[in-house]
Amino acid sequence: MTTQDSRLFSGASPAVVQQDLLPLVGFRDEGMSLEAVEQLVEDKLVPHLMRYGHAGFQSMFNRVPEVGAAMGARVALDHNQGVTNWQVSPGGAALEELCCESLCRLFQMGEKADATFMYSGTYANQQALYMALHRKAEVEGFNFGEEGIPGFRDPSKLAILASRDAHFSLRQSVRMLGLGEQCLIPLEVDADRRIDPDQLQRLMAELGGIKDVFCVVATAGTTSTGAIDPIEVLVEAAHQRGSWLHVDGAYGFSFSLLPECRARFRGVERADSITWDPHKQLGIPIPNSLLFVKDKQDFSRMTLFSHYFNRESSTEPNPGIKSPPSTRPMSALPLATSLLHRGLDLVRDELRAPLAHVRRLKEHLAAQDDFECRHAPDTGILCFQYQPEHVPESRRNELQTFIYDAVLGDGRRSISVTQLGDVVMLRILVMSASVRYEDLLETIEVIRSLGLQFDGESQPR
Ligand SMILES: Cc1ncc(COP(=O)(O)O)c(C=O)c1O
Repeated sequence: MTTQDSRLFSGASPAVVQQDLLPLVGFRDEGMSLEAVEQLVEDKLVPHLMRYGHAGFQSMFNRVPEVGAAMGARVALDHNQGVTNWQVSPGGAALEELCCESLCRLFQMGEKADATFMYSGTYANQQALYMALHRKAEVEGFNFGEEGIPGFRDPSKLAILASRDAHFSLRQSVRMLGLGEQCLIPLEVDADRRIDPDQLQRLMAELGGIKDVFCVVATAGTTSTGAIDPIEVLVEAAHQRGSWLHVDGAYGFSFSLLPECRARFRGVERADSITWDPHKQLGIPIPNSLLFVKDKQDFSRMTLFSHYFNRESSTEPNPGIKSPPSTRPMSALPLATSLLHRGLDLVRDELRAPLAHVRRLKEHLAAQDDFECRHAPDTGILCFQYQPEHVPESRRNELQTFIYDAVLGDGRRSISVTQLGDVVMLRILVMSASVRYEDLLETIEVIRSLGLQFDGESQPR
């Protein structure tokens, strides 16, 4: 089946979708049979759900759960969803701890490393910044957990450096930590959208005395282009000044499992913390995110004991003392069953496919006169502009948005649109194993034909 054959979802407008869904929220005193409820869901909701396994789904970080992972998720649902501590799930709590240790070994993080499962990459990033702030406070001689931001001599000097392409969850994190967005200082990127090391050095020197840079964030797989920042240089620069180095590898850290990609990740084993989302490229059901730390003691900054569980005197495995949620899902099981079922060789092969497709697409576009792609793809994402002759340069941004809307409107594929600086780019992302190189070429042809419908002559609206 080609992507021309079927739609990604019903294609209905938001108003129609909402109208269709009303029976699903018409709660009544009288119950319905399970079959009737199931039929309602099948008829009213399922047609409007996005088909992540469709070869035309080339836009977002979502996947159909891998079968081994889906099996693990079912077992968790059937037995113990919650694994906060030994009391609610002895096996679940112990599995989470063992899985974290095993992943630290798999990623070669060092003897003292540890990890915790999180609800999402966003929260993992937030916790990393919290721990960095906590350590900064320890250096200043106070307990951040107790005194908070007012404990700092001059909170307005606190600063975090991150790529201008870093994920917006960092902005959310600094808001929620009470630091405000003023503390996030964007770092310039090079032509391949990786942090420019020279600018970083210059900026750090300039900021000395003016700002307290307590954390530097390297992104391993930026959301827009999949770029991997030069981690080793950033670790070096951060550690020289006593700053925490966090790697946001929510999307891209999976690729560090490939020996041929390891050089791109050089230095990652020295990072203080790393965010990773197996729910993205690995296809593990949501929520499946982790936060790694170089030194397991770092998690003690998160620990709060209570009298009814997470008790200080407990000696059993207790994942709940490493990160906030007191209700936490059994995320370790679907990840473990998936890795066991596939085996690491197959996992690696599956990781290679998007990289190969996207690199081939980059080469293909480089040979076309009407496309421009500025960055070398580090992972499974490619951004480019369609630049046909009939559209003047001044209207190119408008053209990309027009194409994006037209592709989505057609309903048989989805791509995304992003902005790099002032330039609007189309973005293709390969997640699902069902997306083949030929499907990407088909998308390029669709972009061309839809682009012809754009009137390059008339005045911009
Ligand atoms: C680089 C990066 N970091 C963090 C996140 C946030 O992760 P989550 O969606 O799991 O909250 C994303 C999401 O796309 C991302 O691309």
